[in-house]
Amino acid sequence: MEQKGHIKKYKIGVVGAGHVGLVAAACFAELGHRVICVDNDAGKINSLKKLIMPFYEPELEPLVRKNIKKGILTFSSSLDETIKAAQVIFIAVGTPPQPDGSADLTAIENVAQAVARNLDSYKIVIEKSTVPVQTGQKVKETIYRYRKSNVDFDVASNPEFLREGKAVYDFFYPDRIVLGVESPRAEKILKEIYSSLKAPMVITDINTAELIKHASNSFLAAKISFINAVSRICDLAGADVEKVSLAMGLDKRIGAQFLNAGVGYGGFCFPKDVEAFIYISKKLGYEFGFLKEVKRINDEQRRYFVEKIKEHLWIIKGKKIAVLGLSFKPDTDDMRFAPSVDIVEAFLKEGAYVRVYDPKAKKEAGELFRGKRVEFAGNPYRAVKGCDCVCFLTEWEEFKKLDFKKIKVLTRYHLIADGRNMLDAQKLTKMGFEYIGMGR
Ligand code: UGA
Repeated sequence: MEQKGHIKKYKIGVVGAGHVGLVAAACFAELGHRVICVDNDAGKINSLKKLIMPFYEPELEPLVRKNIKKGILTFSSSLDETIKAAQVIFIAVGTPPQPDGSADLTAIENVAQAVARNLDSYKIVIEKSTVPVQTGQKVKETIYRYRKSNVDFDVASNPEFLREGKAVYDFFYPDRIVLGVESPRAEKILKEIYSSLKAPMVITDINTAELIKHASNSFLAAKISFINAVSRICDLAGADVEKVSLAMGLDKRIGAQFLNAGVGYGGFCFPKDVEAFIYISKKLGYEFGFLKEVKRINDEQRRYFVEKIKEHLWIIKGKKIAVLGLSFKPDTDDMRFAPSVDIVEAFLKEGAYVRVYDPKAKKEAGELFRGKRVEFAGNPYRAVKGCDCVCFLTEWEEFKKLDFKKIKVLTRYHLIADGRNMLDAQKLTKMGFEYIGMGR
């Protein structure tokens, strides 16, 4: 640990070079701390050393490049060496969902074991990955159980709230920093690490910090499912969900964000965190029926979207369908739990020819749809050529600027299914398109 100006600099080990870990590692380095980012995927580490990013995230590459060059950010594939070298260890490994909905915490235990093995001086181990409440207690128990000598350590929870596609911005300008700590020493270290960021800090115990993360993600997912349920009523009653959410959002108590109706939420966070929160609540003795409904509504939106198209096209078999936008949201190439996956599968099951285009997720989608009757197009116009329906499933900016006159000429039947309510319905209808929105 060195001292520079008023801000204490720490030697930080970040375990996991995924979305949370790599962004945190680059940003901690940018704050002036010395950072080693470790991952057990040696290929990924070697690529990172050559400045090849494992995923697309705006602003990340220049930050990694700059801090590698400064010698302040390094990459390693040795967990033991990283833990030995660092005083502060952030755990940012994956906590993927298991078939029963619970989070798989094997990778977290593995890090706890490694900390115990290498505990030769005081260290603080901080959970950054999203984990169910009481995981910190298990991490602590594991280190106690397996450490070789009575060297002091702390466990803390510092959940990450960054969004994919805006991750670097979110790191430097967070709405809040949550610190779940059990000792004044842990609190002091974490406060110092973040001292140059201007954000309210919520200091609490570890269980509460862990719960804040699940509660926050589940609440946002609930907001989306709520407006999606309202969008269904709008469809039935002939009302416009866009205006409903605009007016609702103007009420400061409700807030405008996360009120966009559409094919629902995807990604590696909301679906898995809602499930994991349902699971841990039940385990603790509370049946979180409300969240089960949030999930059900979300799953149903994808099927509902396909049903709407079926109503227009009648028989899907043999029809040509273009899908524009595959990633679970714009500005990312992440396809995990993306609505597009289920929707494309549903079209294929019905016997449609599917042609897809996404500005960033071609590689990821290619792996997912390998061996399936899915054709990849190099641009949106190639994708729509000869199609009976054009679906929009991700609200990429470039789609809003498309030449719809050209699309009209290129398509066989002029049906637009807007799964994100991102297009000007009136304009398209005037141009002679059939327009399907979600609740409008
Ligand atoms: C989410 C949270 O927003 C972050 O705060 C959190 O740190 C992160 O999960 C995590 O736990 O790691 P992220 O999954 O990157 O971030 O994506 P969001 O921007 O939250 O969007 C999630 C999904 O909801 C997307 O599929 C998006 O299309 C959908 N969505 C969002 C809607 O359908 N409607 C909306 O109004 C907003």
